[in-house]
Amino acid sequence: MPIATAFIVGASSQLSQEMARQLSAQGVELALFAQNSDDLTPFIEQLPSAAHAFELSIDQPQQTVQQLETAWQQLGGAHLVVINTGFNQYHPDLPWQLDQAIIQVNVQGFAAIANTCFKLLCEQGYGQLAAINSIAGMRGGSSVSFHASKAFSANYLEGLSMHAQRLKLPITMTDIQLGLLDKAAMQQSRLWSAPIPKVAKQILVGLQKGKRRLYVTKRWRIIAWLAKLLPEYIYNTRHWKSKTAAKKEG
Ligand SMILES: NC(=O)c1ccc[n+]([C@@H]2O[C@H](COP(=O)([O-])OP(=O)(O)OC[C@H]3O[C@@H](n4cnc5c(N)ncnc54)[C@H](OP(=O)(O)O)[C@@H]3O)[C@@H](O)[C@H]2O)c1
Repeated sequence: MPIATAFIVGASSQLSQEMARQLSAQGVELALFAQNSDDLTPFIEQLPSAAHAFELSIDQPQQTVQQLETAWQQLGGAHLVVINTGFNQYHPDLPWQLDQAIIQVNVQGFAAIANTCFKLLCEQGYGQLAAINSIAGMRGGSSVSFHASKAFSANYLEGLSMHAQRLKLPITMTDIQLGLLDKAAMQQSRLWSAPIPKVAKQILVGLQKGKRRLYVTKRWRIIAWLAKLLPEYIYNTRHWKSKTAAKKEG
């Protein structure tokens, strides 16, 4: 008998697979969701605990709902659901098609998953729903719809948490505010990035503690705090650039 069951939605990502590995090592039975579930077979074969792959059509919400409900019935519920889906791409011309694709996955798709899993947890009467979010949701940014979509998911989870309290159900909602992963370090700053096993471990420890909000890695709490406090004329570095340019011109 497994000690617990966990759903990981968006299981093709490196971070999801590292969390799956660590949970599996603890004897947790897993339901893993990906766009192409067949791709998960070689990964699942390496896991020490039972694991099952399910198809996820995040851009078709009705299908997403059905896919989650089917898996829920098949496994007899779950103690933990982790949503780790997301799409981001930047183009300076802000083409609508790109915005639309980000909104479809990060807003509509996210809401369909969170809404369905929350209701399933309510019917079950207990459990934990967690989502990997981003510090990017604290403020606006050049990747306009991505930043806005992350604010949406943070607020959506907060609302669900209020509903769980209203219903007096022991359902924990955890908002995981992620900084930079190591894979992004190649493009960004090594100083602020963290290796995926460390990130996965911090997430799982925070989930076990039943935290409402987690900053991973912990140092990103400082950035989040600063991001909330800074007035726009400091936060928006374009203001600095335009002043410097004006001085040069003058
Ligand atoms: N990478 C970072 O440094 C970083 C930093 C802060 C926050 N985050 C957040 O962490 C989360 C995961 O990031 P990641 O770097 O692990 O991203 P990732 O490797 O690209 O994973 C994203 C996941 O979303 C799934 N997904 C995307 N579009 C989908 C679609 N149309 N249908 C079904 N599944 C879809 C992907 O599945 P497929 O591969 O099957 O498409 C994948 O499993 C995101 O919410 C991201 O915003 C990441």
